[in-house]
Amino acid sequence: MANQYRVGIIGCGRKPVPDAQGRVRTGIAESHGRAYAAVPNATLVAAADIDPENLTSFCERHHVPHGYGDYHEMLAQEHLDIVSVCTWVSLHSRIVIDAAAARPKAILCEKPMALTIPEADAMVAACAANKVRLAINHQRRLGEPFRRAKELLTSGMIGSPLRFEAHVPGGTLLDWGTHWIDMFFYYLDQEPVEWVMAMADRHTDRVLFGEEQEDHAIVHYQFRSGVRAYLDLGVPIVRQPANRLIGTEGIIELGVSPGTPLRVHRYTSAGWEDIPVKEGIHGIEHFIHSVEALIEAVEQDAEPAHSGANGRQALEVILAAYSSVGQRGKVYLPYCAEESAMRELMALWRQQRT
Ligand SMILES: NC(=O)c1ccc[n+]([C@@H]2O[C@H](COP(=O)([O-])OP(=O)(O)OC[C@H]3O[C@@H](n4cnc5c(N)ncnc54)[C@H](O)[C@@H]3O)[C@@H](O)[C@H]2O)c1
Repeated sequence: MANQYRVGIIGCGRKPVPDAQGRVRTGIAESHGRAYAAVPNATLVAAADIDPENLTSFCERHHVPHGYGDYHEMLAQEHLDIVSVCTWVSLHSRIVIDAAAARPKAILCEKPMALTIPEADAMVAACAANKVRLAINHQRRLGEPFRRAKELLTSGMIGSPLRFEAHVPGGTLLDWGTHWIDMFFYYLDQEPVEWVMAMADRHTDRVLFGEEQEDHAIVHYQFRSGVRAYLDLGVPIVRQPANRLIGTEGIIELGVSPGTPLRVHRYTSAGWEDIPVKEGIHGIEHFIHSVEALIEAVEQDAEPAHSGANGRQALEVILAAYSSVGQRGKVYLPYCAEESAMRELMALWRQQRT
């Protein structure tokens, strides 16, 4: 019989309330809850949240038998095999370190990994010391369109890669950029980045997940092999795909429209070829794969595809990008400042505006 995994979630997310347009938004714990329910050998046995309403609502919706106002208590009492950390980024490091001390088999921490490299390193070290598998939930790298895109790239379908592009209308570097930066690492088997050069603009008082963030960012960087990456995040961009992979012999595009998750153009042929895939570029399937991949890593005593080390690599590029904006110049990696380059940049902008 397959091993059974007892799961606990920390940070149950906003309880579902319709917004002005009637759309019901919940926290990301909702997707974790649905994913665990879909994985036969995982059972959600407990949840913790400091907000009693969020906790009660989540436990009712997901039939969770034990709810805790303090996650320490949950960790002490529940003998969990997997802990999901679904709080805002400023709490990720502290909570992952506390959870690792309770020695579950695995921790699935939401993205972005942390606010600084020392925080990320402490997370990886605490998990290693306690023999806990750590995954950062960059779930898209486990999604079918992205895996298929990587297969096409690796097969030489578009020749040698030259440049990757990502576009996120409305997204920020820390929030959405982390997904695409992680994806670019995935496409290139975690090849190191040499330098990062970025520009950003903040003209509103935008705050996301408790952090002040930019309205528009442009990030350009280079991998060791010379492949370039370019991200445009924030303001709407007309008819740009989520990811574009440009090679010497063709182009792969992802997320051109909901009906076209993946397509390829080879320079020797006239048009675009739609590649059939069942999954989209967003969706609950990716969260299910994320949980399955983590359990597989535990059972095979291996690092998961979305490991802490890989999450740290994405964070390093993000922080180097914020640092580049502040310094108005190129930042060479490794980047390992003690402080959060993002918070420093936001403080600088605040000063300039007062
Ligand atoms: N992987 C993805 O695609 C994806 C998508 C959206 C959000 N996220 C990430 O998920 C994280 C959470 O975002 P969200 O939208 O669910 O936020 P949210 O505000 O809906 O939920 C956060 C929850 O954490 C709880 N909380 C705060 N402090 C706590 C503590 N000390 N102990 C226990 N619970 C505590 C809050 O009460 C709240 O219920 C963020 O890091 C965000 O970037 C990931």
